Amino acid sequence: MRAHTIIEPFRIKSVEPIHWTTRPQREALLRAACYNLFQLPADAVLIDLLTDSGTGAMSTQQWAAIMEGDESYAGSRSFDHLRDSVRDIFGFRHVIPTHQGRAAERILFNVMCRQGDIVPNNTHFDTTRANIEFVGAQAVDLLIPEGREPSLNHPFKGNMDVESLERLLSRAGREKVPLVMLTITNNSGGGQPVSLENVRAVSAVCRRHRIPLYFDACRFAENAYFIKLRENGYAGKTPKEIAREIFSYGDGCTMSAKKDGLANIGGFLCTNNDALAQQEKNLLILTEGYPSYGGLAGRDLEAIAVGLQEALQEDYLCYRIASTAYLGNHIAAAGVPIVQPPGGHAIYIDARAFLPHIPAPQFPGVALACELYLEGGIRSVEIGTLMFGEAAKMDLVRLAIPRRVYTQSHIDYVVEVILEVWRRRQEVRGLQVTYEAPFLRHFTARLSPINESVAQSL
Ligand code: F0G
Repeated sequence: MRAHTIIEPFRIKSVEPIHWTTRPQREALLRAACYNLFQLPADAVLIDLLTDSGTGAMSTQQWAAIMEGDESYAGSRSFDHLRDSVRDIFGFRHVIPTHQGRAAERILFNVMCRQGDIVPNNTHFDTTRANIEFVGAQAVDLLIPEGREPSLNHPFKGNMDVESLERLLSRAGREKVPLVMLTITNNSGGGQPVSLENVRAVSAVCRRHRIPLYFDACRFAENAYFIKLRENGYAGKTPKEIAREIFSYGDGCTMSAKKDGLANIGGFLCTNNDALAQQEKNLLILTEGYPSYGGLAGRDLEAIAVGLQEALQEDYLCYRIASTAYLGNHIAAAGVPIVQPPGGHAIYIDARAFLPHIPAPQFPGVALACELYLEGGIRSVEIGTLMFGEAAKMDLVRLAIPRRVYTQSHIDYVVEVILEVWRRRQEVRGLQVTYEAPFLRHFTARLSPINESVAQSL
């Protein structure tokens, strides 16, 4: 028999209780958190869809590998395992471990970028943009126009606009553009994949201008699986073969192993350039640690070495992509506006379309995220005006699905809560900021609800 039901390809060996709260408790908790869900105690959250980063469940093989961790300061056997696993998939010459993705970004941009430089990407993630701006360079998003239309269906909405890239590189040249990046999948644009055709085209433009291409590879396995499902000529290839082909067109990558590394912490930076690798390792020693551990324990390196391979297993990816789509399709069927088609790691609700009566400066995404918490104890995250300021082109609420953590009934509950908020969406009110930090303000901002009479006079 060929069953149609896609099941979780694992059984549960260790359970972690989750906690119910009452609505009055949640109201008080939200007020105390100044309407910023980052400020909530995690124990006050029932279903935590804040992020898929570092929140996954590890396998028995990862836990077994952890016991094999070699904690030697230099020359650790665990580093060899990590390097071999990374090289097997990514194929880059130098593998530099870091404590997470943004540490790899900081080191890369410190070494490669100068004041006034430009770094194009399909869409920079917020830490990537912040690290580029921190060294005085400019982060430019060159997503295809289809990627900016939430309701539009397109198989590879994460693709880069190759013509815009060509124009930018012809104008600015390699003196001003030290590298080009491709984020796979495109997190800030809805968890949407990049096609291999696009990777090849971007790579060809970069080669012509003699500018290196780097991948932000956080969700490379999910991207590879979308290529298998959607791109002509790849149905018969394994996700690993596809991943290898993707990386063969690049010169290096940054990686947060907290996503498709299936680990709770860690990352790495890869390059094929010997001189850059040396500079990067020197910086690494300054702030992260010796190049055989990069701020991680030997056991973490082991967990990542195994996790990267598990993330490419086909039954895992089939379940992963199907379970994310399950959430998206169920709420979309009831009319909830989401970024179409469903992404790999998350569903993104279009908050501007969900709450058309709340203008962008009153943070419709934050308002919706707060309401989902009040209604059902679900934590999500705004990707919009609070995160990016006036530059935000969309106001999205991301429901990120931790890997191998929640079951279908958890997701059914999430659907029920969203549909209840959808039913009484007219009652939701906007918010205003009462405190903000000079950068990455969304993590620590304080907000307060705007009452009706004030809202009307704004
Ligand atoms: N690049 C992308 C595309 C990301 O999604 C993230 C993290 C990073 C880089 C930075 O990696 O957290 O290990 O330092 N994204 C998390 C998220 C935080 O919730 O999407 P990190």
